[in-house]
Amino acid sequence: MSKQIQWGILGTANIAAKVGQAIQKANNANLVAIASRSVAKAKHWAETYRLPKYYDSYQQLLSDTEIEAVYIPLPPSLHAEWTIRTAEVGKHILCEKPLSADYGQAMDMVDACRANNVQLMDGVMWVHHDRTRLMEQIIQSGDLGELRRVTSAFTFHWDQFPTDNIRVRRELAGGSLGDLGYYCIRAILWAFGDLPEQVWASAGYQNEVDFNVSVMMRFSGNRVASFDCGFDTVLRKWFEIAGTSGSIVCDDFTVPPDEQAGFRVRDAGGSSTPYIINNFQQEVEMIRRFSQQVIEMKSSVQGGSTSSQVRTDWTNQAIDTMRVCQAVTDSIHRSAAVDL
Ligand SMILES: NC(=O)c1ccc[n+]([C@@H]2O[C@H](COP(=O)([O-])OP(=O)(O)OC[C@H]3O[C@@H](n4cnc5c(N)ncnc54)[C@H](OP(=O)(O)O)[C@@H]3O)[C@@H](O)[C@H]2O)c1
Repeated sequence: MSKQIQWGILGTANIAAKVGQAIQKANNANLVAIASRSVAKAKHWAETYRLPKYYDSYQQLLSDTEIEAVYIPLPPSLHAEWTIRTAEVGKHILCEKPLSADYGQAMDMVDACRANNVQLMDGVMWVHHDRTRLMEQIIQSGDLGELRRVTSAFTFHWDQFPTDNIRVRRELAGGSLGDLGYYCIRAILWAFGDLPEQVWASAGYQNEVDFNVSVMMRFSGNRVASFDCGFDTVLRKWFEIAGTSGSIVCDDFTVPPDEQAGFRVRDAGGSSTPYIINNFQQEVEMIRRFSQQVIEMKSSVQGGSTSSQVRTDWTNQAIDTMRVCQAVTDSIHRSAAVDL
């Protein structure tokens, strides 16, 4: 059995360059093909990254029997369709965030993956960083006391309005909640290990997409969380997790520099202890983990098991994030608090 998983990519997206190179760097993965709606773009991409194969349609790549795992960095409106088509040909799927345009589509994707016994994971990279594991250990150690509040923000500012960008196109399921708020929601669910009981949100719109969103959440046990996201404020990508006796502050949780990824723990007296992880590429670790999972699924089938074990924790994290995104959207539309 091959110790390397053969990957293909649907679409010459900007983010495909970063993740494609991560596939090439991971020692258990091999990038063999790219597909684009344009043959010229597919050929150029394959030449730039020295891939043996390219296709001028996504479906053609899915027909390539050598490919075992597919990375889907398409606009969010296309995630459900292409995840389901990929699952139906028995290939494993790393789908970009937001997992889908809405919660109903996300459940259809999960059902298709379950029916075809393939792994599904979303492309949230920071959860695969060693820094995240270290912060998790500190939260679980009890040093912060009882967790009370998580606060987060992810914003950036465009100097000129980019009308062509997928993020500001309603028909492609653009908007700052799916593009940026998705990360804040994941951080909040990760820190509390729980879903909120109630969500209240408000948004400002441009070009018919949510351009900025502000959200409050109530959790059981008198815990609260809040976040804001948007395309209209300077770059911010931080969270604070605060308990009764300490807090963690991470200034760049979504994309830290590879060389140094840090965070600070502040105690009840106000003293701050810095932590640093050096030389870590979260996108390579994401690909390595996903490929390892596929290798293990293949080996369980070859060992005589009728079905291989998917990792439901990855799928559940994506689904829970979509569930909260949906509650946020519903709250914005109703101008009212929404119970989960
Ligand atoms: N995990 C992360 O860190 C991260 C970072 C950035 C973005 N993302 C996510 O990755 C996805 C892609 O983002 P991106 O900024 O890389 O997008 P992008 O550069 O605009 O690329 C999207 C690709 O989708 C394909 N496509 C198919 N139908 C399309 C249509 N109607 N309009 C436009 N493109 C279409 C195109 O590929 P072809 O023309 O080659 O077919 C295009 O290159 C999004 O879901 C985004 O949220 C994730």
